[in-house]
Amino acid sequence: MLRTVLLAMSRSHGMERWIVNSRLTRNTVKRFVAGTTLDEAIAAAAELRSRGLQVTLDLLGESVASQEAADKALTGYQALLTRMAADGVEGSVSVKPTQLGLVLDSEACRRRLLALAARAAELGRKVEVDMEDSTLTQATITLYLSLKAEYPESRLALQAYLFRTLADVTSLIEVGGRVRLVKGAYREPPSVAMQGKRDVDGNFVACMDLGLRPEAVDKGFSLALGTHDDAIIQQALEWARQRGLRPQDFEFQFLYGIRTDLQESLVRQGWGVRVYVPFGESWYPYFMRRLAERPANLAFVLKQYFKG
Ligand code: FDA
Repeated sequence: MLRTVLLAMSRSHGMERWIVNSRLTRNTVKRFVAGTTLDEAIAAAAELRSRGLQVTLDLLGESVASQEAADKALTGYQALLTRMAADGVEGSVSVKPTQLGLVLDSEACRRRLLALAARAAELGRKVEVDMEDSTLTQATITLYLSLKAEYPESRLALQAYLFRTLADVTSLIEVGGRVRLVKGAYREPPSVAMQGKRDVDGNFVACMDLGLRPEAVDKGFSLALGTHDDAIIQQALEWARQRGLRPQDFEFQFLYGIRTDLQESLVRQGWGVRVYVPFGESWYPYFMRRLAERPANLAFVLKQYFKG
């Protein structure tokens, strides 16, 4: 119930104005977002790199309303890549298709994504494509396949809560794709997505089982496990050991500020861990999704408020 309300709030412009200007949220936002400026993002990424973590940087923004805003997002990402290279920050960038104008004009969005990947490749960096709500799943997979044809190192997020995802993972294994498997962060109807945590977790594990098989790795498939779920991570480690997988065969991915203890423990054990580092002015929808995932975060916001 609370999750549904928070996800509905994440799309409300009225709530956005109120929350963005409120001191209520400031300290909690800092926990999940690396900052509003490029300087802050680069500093956060460099600090993570110094502790043996890999990074993917997200210039926050989504659902742009004009072609100019989509062009501006592309320019922002190109500046980010240039700065990563100048400061020696290795890693990838993660982008939302609606930030590059997918809903306005899918062909223009594809051109922008290819331009972004071209710049990333020039600088020895990579692109990851985030997955948004289920009305965009097929269009985003089509976009990724077009990107992959020219830039095979690119990665696509797929959401375990969707009924279709096991079949999507199976198809992408066949073509040697690169997938970031996540549980899914949007409000979806029962016609397309599982509603119960147990079902979603079960489907995540089923997709992970396929993606972590040596046959999948041999086909060039690469799985990134985008979860903070301890039980699932332990299952992945058990399978990796039983199946003789090496650290370069898959990776773990975490969101900035979440389960840093677990991130460090995996790095100490020699596994690859990438942290998703969001930054920028447009942090509101991202922040609301993080609150919706864990009601305890809302309690944290209120505690900060009453502390003054
Ligand atoms: P689950 O929600 O079951 O949480 C397991 C444990 O993790 C909790 O018990 C808690 O300890 C910790 N935890 C989880 N969320 C937390 C939070 N917000 N604050 C504090 N602790 C928390 N989604 C999507 O739809 N499209 C996408 O492209 C992406 N991309 C993406 C990249 C990366 C690197 C990650 C890790 C996640 C995403 N997601 C995403 C978000 C994903 O779909 C999901 O909503 C969150 O990861 C939460 O689910 P968990 O797998 O962590 O499990």
